[in-house]
Amino acid sequence: MKIAILAGDGIGPEVTDEAVNVLTAVAKHRGQTFEYVPLLIGGVAITAHGTPLPEETLQKTLQCDAALLGAVGDNKFNHLPPNERPEAGLLQIRAALGGFANLRPAVAYKALADNSPLRPEITDSVDILFVRELLGGLYFGEPRQWDKATGRAHNTMVYTREEVDRVARIAFDLASRRTKKKITSVDKANVLETSQLWRAVVTEVAKDFPSVTLEHQLVDSMAIHLMTRPRDFDVVLTENLFGDILSDESGVITGSLGMLPSATLGGKVNLYEPVHGSAPDIAGTGKANPIGAILTAALVLRHSGSLEREAAIVEDAVVKTLEAGYRTADIARGGVAGQQTVSTRQMGELILDRVHAELGAAAS
Ligand code: IPM
Ligand code: MG
Repeated sequence: MKIAILAGDGIGPEVTDEAVNVLTAVAKHRGQTFEYVPLLIGGVAITAHGTPLPEETLQKTLQCDAALLGAVGDNKFNHLPPNERPEAGLLQIRAALGGFANLRPAVAYKALADNSPLRPEITDSVDILFVRELLGGLYFGEPRQWDKATGRAHNTMVYTREEVDRVARIAFDLASRRTKKKITSVDKANVLETSQLWRAVVTEVAKDFPSVTLEHQLVDSMAIHLMTRPRDFDVVLTENLFGDILSDESGVITGSLGMLPSATLGGKVNLYEPVHGSAPDIAGTGKANPIGAILTAALVLRHSGSLEREAAIVEDAVVKTLEAGYRTADIARGGVAGQQTVSTRQMGELILDRVHAELGAAAS
């Protein structure tokens, strides 16, 4: 595999290093090499080339089998309009690569049950797969403008039947291969035409997947249900902005936003990125949690490398490392016996050791 490495801003490079180490361990164990192509995106690209997505980054990424992104965002560009900020580089590369189905698994690990502000019996065995539509809706709809002279700004929410159909099919296919086989489609059909279209198309697609149960939820009540009864959900399918918001909310269930990985499928090159942002306040301090990025590496192995066994080994190594009591700052709780706070690098190394051990054990 040839993998574009888009480490980006803030904690992006630190967490991506740990993810790459895990990928390298897997490749080495298989007697292969993964080729990494480091490329600039986001604020670092603005600083070096005056644009958040340099042409070279895009062209070289298009020649790779997968792209692994760290994070983008830097407060020093807060004065710029949305289309010139570091985040624009991410949105542009998402559009150019074409992946429209953003998978964001949120799994509540037992070892972190006390990290969630939710009671352990509420988060117990939660295993939700968010499928977020990534190329439509308010993020990309035209026209869009902030007219400073008139003091009026507008964005446009657009969806087409095709855009809803294609992401729904991926979600139903994934749901049909899970234990609960249930889809919760989230919209705002009591107010928005785009949501009425969404609901109609999803209901239509469901007919092709008789093994999957479909329910619809309005996004406002879904925000509550996710916190009060997250165990009732399996695959949660939703449009771009609702998926952005609800997937951050799911960080409450897992104990930290730093735990969440994502994979974007359906385009020319799959794009992999942890859900968390660039966290400039802790960049370079060793406090960043690399687990979101490492679990993202597992998704690279699963969805781009067809290495399901290796992906499961990486995920298992994360669980075992947490069970052994190791915590980065975001998931550390002071004074708990048997727990030890470690740095980004140490957490990466601890997980890596287990990956090596488990790969070795699995081979013999
Ligand atoms: C995410 C992020 C991005 C988004 C930002 C950085 C553009 O919040 O991946 O969830 O809104 O999609
Ligand atoms: Mg987000």
